[in-house]
Order: sequence, then C-alpha cells, then structure tokens
Amino acid sequence: MKQKPLIIANWKMNLAGSEVDRWLEKFDANDPAVSQANVIICPSFVFLEKLAHHAKGTGLAVGAQDLYWEDKGAYTGEISGKQLIDIGCQFVIVGHSERRKLFGETDEVVNAKALSALQYRLRPIICFGENYKEKEEGQTKKVIVDKVRENFKDIRSTDARKVVIAYEPLWAISTSTEVEEPIADSPESAQVVHKLIRKTVAELYDDNVAKEIRIAYGGSVDSSNVASFAAMDDIDGVLVGGASKEASSFQSVVSEFVEKN
Ligand code: 13P
Repeated sequence: MKQKPLIIANWKMNLAGSEVDRWLEKFDANDPAVSQANVIICPSFVFLEKLAHHAKGTGLAVGAQDLYWEDKGAYTGEISGKQLIDIGCQFVIVGHSERRKLFGETDEVVNAKALSALQYRLRPIICFGENYKEKEEGQTKKVIVDKVRENFKDIRSTDARKVVIAYEPLWAISTSTEVEEPIADSPESAQVVHKLIRKTVAELYDDNVAKEIRIAYGGSVDSSNVASFAAMDDIDGVLVGGASKEASSFQSVVSEFVEKN
C-alpha cells in the first residue's frame, strides 16, 4: 500500500496581504482528503509565521522556499534553518529549478542547504531534474543519477529517509523559460524517472531508505491531470506551482490525488 501522499503548494513569489487571508479562508483544511495526505504550504518568508499559526491544530504543515546554510551571522538578506524552525516550519524547499537557474545555485550549494536543514530537523525538499537539451540528447538518466549522488553527499542514512525529492523536468514547468511553450510530460515517463531515482537511492543507502523516501513530481500539474500522475507507483506526491495560487484549484489537486492514490 502507498504511504500518505505529499502534496506541496509552492506559491513562489505570489500572493500578498489580503490574498493570503482569502486563500486561507477558502482552503478547507478539514476536508477529508486533506487528512488523507500530508499537505504542505510554502509561502514567501514574510507569511511563514502567519501560515504556521493558521496550520496549528490542522493537518497542514508549513515549508519555506529556501534557506541559507549558516545558522547566524553577517549574511544580509538570508534566513537560516534555526530561524525557520523557530517560527514553526517543518519543511524547506532547496534547489528549486528557479533558484538554480536565476540565482546560480549549484549542486554543492543545494547539498549544503539540505545538510543544514537536516541539522535543524527541517525536512528538505530537494529539487532537481534535467533541462530540455539534456532530455533531447538522451542524457536524462545520467543527469538524474549524478544529481542524486551530488545532492545527497554526506547525508547520513537516518537523515536521508526524511528527505523529500521533487523531480522537476525543467521543460515541463508551466512558467519555464527553457522552451517556448512548456511541453506536457506523461505520467509514464515521469514514473520511469521516479523509479530510477528510487533505485539510485537504494544503491546509495539501502532498500528501506529507498522505500521510505518520498518522491514528488514537480512538473506542471493541475486538477485535470494530477490523477494520472497519482496513479503511478513511484510518484508519492506533487510539488504544485501555478495551480496552488488559488485555494479552490489546490483543493481540487489534493482531492484528485488522494482519490487516485
Ligand atoms: P507549475 O506547477 O506552475 O508548472 O510549477 C511547477 C513548479 O515549479 C513547482 O515548484
């Protein structure tokens, strides 16, 4: 039997002020589908505390969209794992494709961030995937295996099982600048990559870690296609961008995923 799915809303740099209040009013955290999943909301830093307060006593969890690997010091503009855990965060996205592309984050940086998150008992959601050129050149397998190895460097087995992986085929993200028009991924080809990720984790650690680790799909999904991804054996959840900006569409994603899981 599959574990509870992990359904993550990545608001990116969207929603402000009253829009956040309206989202929270509209999203029904008591819906039975929500209790059958682990639903995580990742707002901008400035709304984390509000979300953490709101999530108390519900099944919702809160995640940040990034962190810095030092715990304190002269790092203007940065935020540490220590600060995130203090305000009630449980998860943190690291190495999202937008951070890698727009802010030059390397696998080394992403690994340092993941290690720091784990040190503070934050569960990192490590994102990676192949770009369009790599896909077209038939490099997907190699890229993915390398990414697992590099991003998990020095992560101990007891910590590795707490990591969430988000597979992001860069060419399939709705706001992708990789390609003129994002290309729809198929659940079957996503499943092939998820299975490869799990196999690589098993080789790095063991079968138990590979079984426990959660692998979410981070290509474009919405309520119309998420069920077909949920039906795949190695797709344990989704990382949702655009379709999480509206409470109602995110609620539908949660219901559809849970129903098909
Ligand atoms: P979209 O759901 O908007 O395609 O974005 C995917 C993503 O980047 C999730 O973090």
